[in-house]
Amino acid sequence: MTNESSKKAVLSLDGKQIDLPILSGTLGPDVIDVKDVLTSEYFTFDPGFMATASCESKITFIDGDKGILLHRGYPIDQLAEQANYLEVAYLLLKGELPNSTQKAEFEHLVSTHTMVHDQLRKFFEGFRRDAHPMAVMCGVVGALSAFYHDGLDVSDPKHGEITAIRLIAKIPTLAAMSYKYTSGQPFMYPRNDLNYAENFLYMMFATPADVDYKVNPVLAKAMDRIFILHADHEQNASTSTVRMAGSTGANPYACIAAGIAALWGPAHGGANEAVLKMLDEIGTVENVAAFMEKVKTKEVKLMGFGHRVYKNFDPRAKVMKQTCDEVLAALGINDPQLTLALELERIALSDPYFIERKLYPNVDFYSGIILKAIGIPTSMFTVIFALARTVGWISHWLEMHSAPYKIARPRQLYTGSPQRDFTPEKDRK
Ligand code: SDX
Repeated sequence: MTNESSKKAVLSLDGKQIDLPILSGTLGPDVIDVKDVLTSEYFTFDPGFMATASCESKITFIDGDKGILLHRGYPIDQLAEQANYLEVAYLLLKGELPNSTQKAEFEHLVSTHTMVHDQLRKFFEGFRRDAHPMAVMCGVVGALSAFYHDGLDVSDPKHGEITAIRLIAKIPTLAAMSYKYTSGQPFMYPRNDLNYAENFLYMMFATPADVDYKVNPVLAKAMDRIFILHADHEQNASTSTVRMAGSTGANPYACIAAGIAALWGPAHGGANEAVLKMLDEIGTVENVAAFMEKVKTKEVKLMGFGHRVYKNFDPRAKVMKQTCDEVLAALGINDPQLTLALELERIALSDPYFIERKLYPNVDFYSGIILKAIGIPTSMFTVIFALARTVGWISHWLEMHSAPYKIARPRQLYTGSPQRDFTPEKDRK
């Protein structure tokens, strides 16, 4: 709920004083409302939207200095400890945690939508077997709008509701299919007798030849917690992409596909895959010092470190590290890459270069080590991130459509050529 603060910002410009309203939310900084200042003479200028609130939202709150992350008011560590992913999905979508009846109904509803139209199997065949699974996911999720015509009217809340369920239910199936296809194994159909995380791991690792395949409950719980830690994160680049695409009235499947594409970048959701590649390149603890020198000369970035908002520990990284310890201990794995990651973290947290720049481990630093322990191939790490973030993306898409909105259309500071007349070919240099 925004309310206009009694405070005002005053812009003094060309001898004029322009009063700018200041709006206050529930938590976090107030905002200076510049939307009515739009004049033909001045725009605000904020490349990368470092200091720009693009919308009003009730879904997630982040305090980067204090390392706080709340979903509908609930701290992420409490949700990761006491809830499961579908409870968090319900919370993000509806604003409250489900009671036992609502929880059972929601889980049943999702389980009845986990299968995809069988024709979609053919869609995968258009990809080479060595396609990156994220490339497959961009294509296949966008293609869902070709199969589900009864949920594309963005103005109909009922359509939004069924589309949200379809996306949450089908994204694990499509993610597992993208893995099976690129690894040359037959697709496994979803099973309604398994919970969300178990079902995903079953579709990933079971084969028709192994009819008694059982999902390890330790891995299923770790998978569910990784889903929770990636579910939503305010107006990050991929969520802002989904909102921007949604502001044109594009159908929700196309918007989520746009979010998947944006997430793929190594500065964003692609970082978890990049962390494992970085640990592989460093190899051993003896090489850490030399690697850190390359970071300081900006030849490379310390992947999994730093964040646009968190200038303190990413609260998800703390839970991820604890989960990492639990999973490796439960599986009796002594992963040298974890030892290497701990040494990288120890050095970074004591090195002035990182301290001055407030660079701390983010959600991606430890997730890759857990995913590897679960048996997920590195190329699937960002697919897992996209799977989990789908509920966040569609929650923001629904929130945007629940109130009047305008098409997102930023302006620019133009520094190109002044107007000039056409240069005939003979006069061109
Ligand atoms: C995610 O926004 C979200 O919420 C995203 C996310 C989500 O859940 O949706 O949290 C998920 O994307 C997490 C971030 C994953 N990315 C990485 O781990 C890639 C490595 N991190 C960097 O690329 C970087 O930290 C960003 C992109 C995450 C943030 O970049 P900023 O805020 O634009 O930081 P910056 O470039 O302004 O950096 C400030 C300084 C610079 O040095 P100086 O110019 O001041 O000398 O810190 C340096 C940067 O060079 N720096 C790093 C660094 N990150 C920033 N130096 C080395 N290694 C790094 N990782």
